[in-house]
Amino acid sequence: MARCFVSRQLPGSALDRLAEQHEVEVWAQELPPTYAELTEHVEDAEGLLSMLTDRVDAELIEAAPKLRAISNYAVGYDNIDLAAAAARRIPVGNTPGVLTDATADLAFALLMAAARKLTEADAAVREGGWQTWEPGSYLGADVYGATLGIIGFGRIGRALAERADGFSMRVLHTTRDSTHEDLDDLLEQSDFVSVHAPLTPETHHLIGAHALAKMKTSAILINTARGELVDQQALTRALEDGLIAGAALDVTVPEPLPADDPLLQAPNLIVTPHIGSATRTARERMAELAVDNLLAGLDGQPMPNQVPAPA
Ligand code: DGY
Repeated sequence: MARCFVSRQLPGSALDRLAEQHEVEVWAQELPPTYAELTEHVEDAEGLLSMLTDRVDAELIEAAPKLRAISNYAVGYDNIDLAAAAARRIPVGNTPGVLTDATADLAFALLMAAARKLTEADAAVREGGWQTWEPGSYLGADVYGATLGIIGFGRIGRALAERADGFSMRVLHTTRDSTHEDLDDLLEQSDFVSVHAPLTPETHHLIGAHALAKMKTSAILINTARGELVDQQALTRALEDGLIAGAALDVTVPEPLPADDPLLQAPNLIVTPHIGSATRTARERMAELAVDNLLAGLDGQPMPNQVPAPA
């Protein structure tokens, strides 16, 4: 029986399976543990079931001498120092696949909401700003038949393309091997640009001043991947200056954005609280996968979804 720390309560009953075999402590507070609290709680843990909000860096791993398995409750694992884990031969698991459709659905929902100014129109009705039907108010962009540029064509990017097909959209996409020129070309041609690349040193601020300047002034940017992929200062300026028509972000830096962050004052912006995978089914399946990974790792078996160790 191994001692495991789970850094948040999870939906569904997956944690019961973990508790049948191991001694499990679940962080029960409303906010995630701070870095210091996390360090304290993993000090004598053999298994860690972490969230994307937990920074599992080299220092934390060093502070947990008994740690034998890390299972991240997310498909992304940019919060984990893979090299530090590999140096201790600690396997790291993630939860791909089960959240693909939920995240692609949200990306398309954000695309539609931004195109048709849904949040602005809803606010006008509630706040009494809507006086009468008008020919020239709340004019949005056509989605049907428009061009969608997908940056990163993994599972979620491809699932978004399937949804776009139903709207007869022309889909352009980049892959890991695309050149700067390919990306510029996609940005220049697209009416909507949706970001689905993992966060790596290469993709940090991939959408900065240069990329935003390449986009059409009528284009809309959607990000459901990681906030760090977009340079938020450059995006704020681009929205203020009308360099692009709008943006819809499910992810930001930091999360949440402080109420006085200049980005929140920018026009034509929708921000949601990192809800890409937030359907009951997806989050319960993520919990099942995360528990399967941790159980396998503690058992000395390959995890069903084990992140490859860095070369
Ligand atoms: C992930 O799994 O990486 C997502 O961002 C969570 O919704």
